[in-house]
Order: sequence, then C-alpha cells, then structure tokens
Amino acid sequence: MRLSLRWAAHRYVFVVGVVLGLLGLVMVSLPLNGTRTTKPLNWHVSPAHKKLVQEHVLRVLEGRCRPGSTRQSLLARLPASGSVDQPFLWKDGPLPDHLFRDPPPFGFRGVRAKVDDLLKLLEHSDVAHQPGKTSAKCQRCVVVGNGGILRGLELGPLIDRFDTIIRLNSGPLGAFSVDVGNRTSIRMSYPEGTPLHWIDTDPHTLFVAVVYKSVDISWISAMINKLAVSLWDRLFFWQKVPQQIPLEPRRFRLLNPHVIRETALDLLRYPPPRPRLFGWDKNVPTLGVSALNLASLLCDEVSLAGFGYNLSQQGALLHYYDHLPMSAMLRQKMHNVDRETELLQNLVREGSVTDLTGGVHCSFCPS
Ligand SMILES: *[C@@H]1O[C@H](CO)[C@@H](O)[C@H](O)[C@H]1NC(C)=O
Ligand SMILES: *[C@@H]1O[C@H](CO)[C@@H](O)[C@H](O)[C@H]1NC(C)=O
Repeated sequence: MRLSLRWAAHRYVFVVGVVLGLLGLVMVSLPLNGTRTTKPLNWHVSPAHKKLVQEHVLRVLEGRCRPGSTRQSLLARLPASGSVDQPFLWKDGPLPDHLFRDPPPFGFRGVRAKVDDLLKLLEHSDVAHQPGKTSAKCQRCVVVGNGGILRGLELGPLIDRFDTIIRLNSGPLGAFSVDVGNRTSIRMSYPEGTPLHWIDTDPHTLFVAVVYKSVDISWISAMINKLAVSLWDRLFFWQKVPQQIPLEPRRFRLLNPHVIRETALDLLRYPPPRPRLFGWDKNVPTLGVSALNLASLLCDEVSLAGFGYNLSQQGALLHYYDHLPMSAMLRQKMHNVDRETELLQNLVREGSVTDLTGGVHCSFCPS
C-alpha cells in the first residue's frame, strides 16, 4: 500500500513535471511566434533622422549600379576551390554527392529519398521566372530583415523601388507597408517561421523554402501538393506551421543547402558541422545572413534594411511588428550574433553591401 502510494506520487510528480515542461516550451515559443502583429505601435523617430535615412536610400537607388559587385566582393572571402553557383535546386539531373555530406541545414545527408521526391514536384517549375540576373539591366536587391529599426522610418515606397525584394519568415506587410513596402519578390522561410496566413499579395512572389530538418522537406512537398501535413509529421515542429500556402506550384523554390553551408563555413568561418545528439553548436547562420548570400547570387548589388541587433540597447524593439525587446535575442542558442555582426560590419564598411537603415554600420549618421 505504502509502496503503491509512493509510486502514485512519483507518477504524479512525473506527469506534473511533463505538463509544466510542455507549458514552459509553449511559453518560450509563444513570444517568438510573432502573433501580435496586427497593429503598429506608435513609435517615435525624429524627423531629422527619418530624413537622413530616406536621403541615404535615395542615393543608393539613384547611384551607379555596379554589375556583379556584391558577389565579387564575397568571392574574395570564399575559398578558390569552388563556391555555390546555383541558388535553387531543380530536377535537372542527379544531385552531386557533396550535397549529401552534411545533414540539414548544411546539406541533405540522410534525406536523399525525400529530396528526390520533392524535386519531382519542382521539375516543371518556371525556370524562366527567376528574379534578378535574367535581364541585362543591373539588378539591385534589398533583403528586408525584421528589425525594429525599420519602424517609423517610412521607407516603404523606397524599398518597393528595388528590383528584387527579399523578405524573411513572417515579416508582415499590411499596416506595416508604410515602413516596409508591399512588394515581395521572394519570401524565404522554414516551416515554423512561415506566416500561418499568407501575407503577400504581389503576384510575382516566390516562396523559397529552407530545410533545417528532415520533416521540413515533407512539409514543403505537402504545401506544393496542397495536401494537409500528416499528424505524425506535425509532432516534429516546435510551433504551429501553416497548413497551406496559396501559391501555384511553380512559385516554390528549394534553397540549395550549400548557400547556408557557404555562409556558415566560409563567410562566418564556423567550424564544420559535427554530429550532436541534442541542441545546436551556435553554428547555424541566421536567415538574414543566409539571405544576403542568396541575394548575391541573384542580384548585382545587395542592400540590407532592418538589419542589426544592438544588444546593448536592451529596451529597443527586436522586430518591427511586435513588442519583443532586443534582450529576447540573448535567449536563443542557435546563432552567434557577435560573429554575424562583425561580418556584416566589415561587408558594409568595405562597400560590398549597403546598410539602408544603419543598424549594422551607419555611414550616414552624424558622428
Ligand atoms: C502596393 O501599394 C500601392 C499603393 O497603394 C498599390 O498601387 C500597389 O498595387 C500595391 N502593390 C501590391 C503588390 O500590393
Ligand atoms: C548600440 O547602442 C549603444 C547604446 O545606445 C550605442 O552607444 C552604440 O553605438 C550602438 N552600437 C551600434 C553598433 O550601433
């Protein structure tokens, strides 16, 4: 009797522990969810600063565009022995073996069959419709990060003037368009980061899927096929994922994982990925830096907007669309923010990319 009571108590403690643990997980993942994204806050930016930023962006848009300049500067940082040449993967012959050396997000080791199935869906994709380098005109890309620094600068109409506009994860438009614009050439995301309700009304939008884990491939296939994600697969996502993306199949792209690998190993100089049972080595680049690398393959000149985590401004806003403070970035364990900031600052200082909003390195701020 006493023994069974003790067992009952143990079981109770165990169940309560599991429930609390799950609650904790839910609470940790909720704020990063970006659910409270419907109305912009009143946010004050001085008119003088706003004018300074807008004039800087105009100078970038109206300056001389140098063909191939961003990729050329990045190439100087990459090993002579081969760099990524193909931003997206297609069913155009067998994939090279080196793509299967590392697991996602750096390669496709262990998921070959799933990738082959996915590529069959992409085989009829509209290759002709590729943003960027298909025309003779020098192409300017802007990667719109989700940084709170965008708020109140009213850069929307200027951002929309770039040739190719790359947006990340669930970065919303709608009421925020005055600050971030309303055109989207590419929305780049992984399942948990993708808006639960599709945001982009631009008929040219491509969805660029990034694979971080095996189940992400099943999700992309389901989205292209307009099928529900299986209940079993849903268990492997750390937060709710969209059940549909209302785009035609030819608007889907699969990011070449070597774009991420090159960003991590060659640009950020992280050590090569090694097997780990649990957690991350802080060697996964943020989507923002990976998007910069992708943009260098698609466009001639790359600009950044809404980039920069200034961790010493703890009260500042992390995102342009919610109320999370900058300090929330300190809690994540996946990315090495210091290393990324150093790389981005160097790229901006040497003129390889331009920083429109000045959060990485402000070339237009009064010193
Ligand atoms: C963006 O807004 C402008 C001005 O309101 C409108 O003319 C244009 O059609 C919109 N474009 C998209 C893609 O929603
Ligand atoms: C970050 O914020 C602090 C405090 O406002 C400021 O002194 C510093 O210059 C900022 N750093 C960057 C890189 O903007």
